[in-house]
Amino acid sequence: MSTLKTAAQFFAVRTLLRGYALIGDPYAKVITSPPNSDPYLMYERIRAKGDMVRSKMGAYVTTSREICDSVLRDNRFITATFDEASMVPITLVKDGEKIVNPVQDSFLMMNPPDHTRLRKLVQPFFTPRALKDRTGSIRQIVATYLDKLDGRFDVVTEFAAQVPIQVIADLLGVPNEDKATFARWGSALAETLDGVWSHKQLKDLHATIIEYNDYIDGLMDERRRNPKDDIVSHLVTEHADLSREDLVATTGLLLFAGFETTVNLIGNGVLKAFENPHTVAPLAQSPEYAEGFAEEVLRLDPPVQYTLRWPKERLELAGVTLPKGMPVMLMLAAANRDPRAFKDPLKFDPTRSNAREHLSFSAGIHYCIGAGLSRIEGAIALHELFKRFPGLAPDGPVTRRKSKLIRGALRLPVRANETKRSLAVKNS
Ligand code: HEM
Repeated sequence: MSTLKTAAQFFAVRTLLRGYALIGDPYAKVITSPPNSDPYLMYERIRAKGDMVRSKMGAYVTTSREICDSVLRDNRFITATFDEASMVPITLVKDGEKIVNPVQDSFLMMNPPDHTRLRKLVQPFFTPRALKDRTGSIRQIVATYLDKLDGRFDVVTEFAAQVPIQVIADLLGVPNEDKATFARWGSALAETLDGVWSHKQLKDLHATIIEYNDYIDGLMDERRRNPKDDIVSHLVTEHADLSREDLVATTGLLLFAGFETTVNLIGNGVLKAFENPHTVAPLAQSPEYAEGFAEEVLRLDPPVQYTLRWPKERLELAGVTLPKGMPVMLMLAAANRDPRAFKDPLKFDPTRSNAREHLSFSAGIHYCIGAGLSRIEGAIALHELFKRFPGLAPDGPVTRRKSKLIRGALRLPVRANETKRSLAVKNS
């Protein structure tokens, strides 16, 4: 497709979305909301219109926890790639060959039986037993990064982002020296999760994915020759019959899903602690409280705000008839605040007994494979951070991610020691 034609298509879609957003269309509003606006106010406005709100863009939007949960568990609904979400058909090619997009071509976007076949291959690395074995090394990673911090620092770039990258890189077998490159690729990919909206974004995505494909081919070759105790080695030696596309996409999905989300659990957790100072002392003192704290962050400010599903056939859902192929936008972050499911839903309460009923890790067959891992990472990271720096305080404006699907801070400047002293004075 010519550059001009694609650019014109993107322009048309953006103009259409902005126009619909202006007249209050729920789907368009979610997709176009500015990074610094409060999405939760917008979700409550959508909730006030009903459980199934029709978008003029050919979709339904739901904020109901019950409906979100039932759609996610209903095999009459399927997932689809961002070709649909972007509304401009995108195929990435190099020298006439399709290049593998590690998120869009992965089992996250597949349906059974392919989804089942590929998910099963990596599931053994995420069993409760496997996670228990990893906990010690997660503690060590957290301690290593905390040791580097003092005074003023950026708690996202220097801590919240570093821990999950190191954890997932170790699990997959990515050498330490390549972590920074992965972080760069991860940010580029994460920004396109809610669709590609400009020709420049498409070009950047293209370049990132080509670099990633070349890199992972090299790593897989190296592990075929010298297998180690990691997921890449396991896949290339135990499942040597897998296609190159499946190998590249599966490892890529784990890598990027593994850190582009957990960084935001930790970052959003720091923000919640700042907003709720009474939670800081118990968070710093008790690992159990920290688990509840991380869970409540997941419920009230989740890293993944929504997902979509498409009906395979015409069907009835919550009183409306959905034609085949009409997407339903499942507002996970709003479902987590559904007053029918959570008492006093806007209250941040780390001791809430049913916090785990949130949908932040989705539900059904695509339930997040890394949920257990990120729960451990989030709880340990937040507990140890506030234990080390009980007086941690904000030290400048928060820069938010542009993505509407992934919610979190890109930069969050904080100060440690100075506030520790001033807090000590205040407390005395
Ligand atoms: C706080 C951190 C995380 C959040 C909020 C999160 C959220 C999610 C959500 C919402 C989905 C399902 C999307 C859908 O149903 O359309 C998902 C799927 C997935 N996540 Fe996570 N995730 C997190 C951490 C991780 C980690 C640490 C890993 C890997 C180590 C991971 C790997 C995956 C994979 C492989 C899938 C696809 C599952 C499937 O399609 O069967 N995630 N995640």
